[in-house]
Amino acid sequence: MTSATPSEQRFGFALADRWIASRCLVAPMAGVTDLPFRQLCKRLGAVYAVAEMSAADPALRHTRKSRLRRQHDNEPAPVVVQIAGAEPDYLAEAAMFNVRHGAEIIDINMGCPAKKVCRKAAGSALLADEALVARILAAVRKAVTVPVTLKIRLGSDARHINAVRIAQLAEQAGIDMLTVHGRTRAQKYQGEVDYASIAAVVASVRIPVIANGDIDSAGKAAQVLRRTGAAAVMIGRAGQGNPWLYAAVDQYLRSGIIATPTDALTRAAVLIEHVQNLHAFYGEQQGLRVARKHIGWTLQALPTAQSIPRQLLQVDDACQQLRMLEQLLQHAPATAAVQTQLAAPTDSGLCRAA
Ligand SMILES: Cc1cc2nc3c(=O)[nH]c(=O)nc-3n(C[C@H](O)[C@H](O)[C@H](O)COP(=O)(O)O)c2cc1C
Repeated sequence: MTSATPSEQRFGFALADRWIASRCLVAPMAGVTDLPFRQLCKRLGAVYAVAEMSAADPALRHTRKSRLRRQHDNEPAPVVVQIAGAEPDYLAEAAMFNVRHGAEIIDINMGCPAKKVCRKAAGSALLADEALVARILAAVRKAVTVPVTLKIRLGSDARHINAVRIAQLAEQAGIDMLTVHGRTRAQKYQGEVDYASIAAVVASVRIPVIANGDIDSAGKAAQVLRRTGAAAVMIGRAGQGNPWLYAAVDQYLRSGIIATPTDALTRAAVLIEHVQNLHAFYGEQQGLRVARKHIGWTLQALPTAQSIPRQLLQVDDACQQLRMLEQLLQHAPATAAVQTQLAAPTDSGLCRAA
């Protein structure tokens, strides 16, 4: 249990017996919120980051993908693991298994519209079957003593909005927190986010409700909190290439002060360190593929808005990827001093001979 100082008590929210000293949470994103990204966000000031969803099916438990998704070494608390599946027993077992492997909070995925999840009637497809939802929530709640949270969408489609009923089921089942992405499953990522429906969920239960969907700035976060009355916001895509965002939003919500945008030099140094950490975490081949996405997002977000050379996104050697990136950043006008000012980054060990 995290005990809060009196000044922290004023900012954040209570999640079961924990105090979460933040009102801006990192959303789970498969392929993005892996251990290196969560560590980075937390090092830059984020407090709460949900790991990528992990399949509850025991047949998938020992795949390389599942093993990597269970890594929490040196991750600052709280370790939040999201489980996905449709079988109450599998989900209950997965919750216990993950708690044994370091999870301090279990999140249940009923929000993901991805085909791979929904073909097995998991993720947001579950919202159409309220009886099954109730059985899953009861099974997972009974299986573990750590806080259990739930992430949902508004419903299956515009004619089947049932987020309020699901929220009440969750509260009755003893679920400790609910995150609502204000779109239906059918909408995927299209159309406007319906913050009024999130407000209706907030008004219907006493557990903390977190608002999610299309929040991309401190101003928007404040506006969504006002409109919904939510305990906090959760941000996903806007944090890609901008892991500073979470702390900046928190600072604004806490004090009204808008954070000075992080300068290009610092962004470059952090990106290089992140790429090295990805190479070390995944190994050379997978590491360079995952790093491509983060390089693209981060360079696009640089104030100098560089065009990204195709070779950098296509290179298939991890050391070359790193060298090309360092060269590019060294020659960028706003980052000319990057090489001399780089804090010695964690060496992945891959490129020592270069
Ligand atoms: C690449 C990607 C992967 C995602 N993976 C998950 C996931 O594993 N579990 C989940 O509950 N939601 C997942 N989501 C949904 C996000 O958590 C979030 O609800 C959604 O992106 C809306 O928030 P945003 O507008 O701030 O991005 C994913 C979204 C993206 C873009």
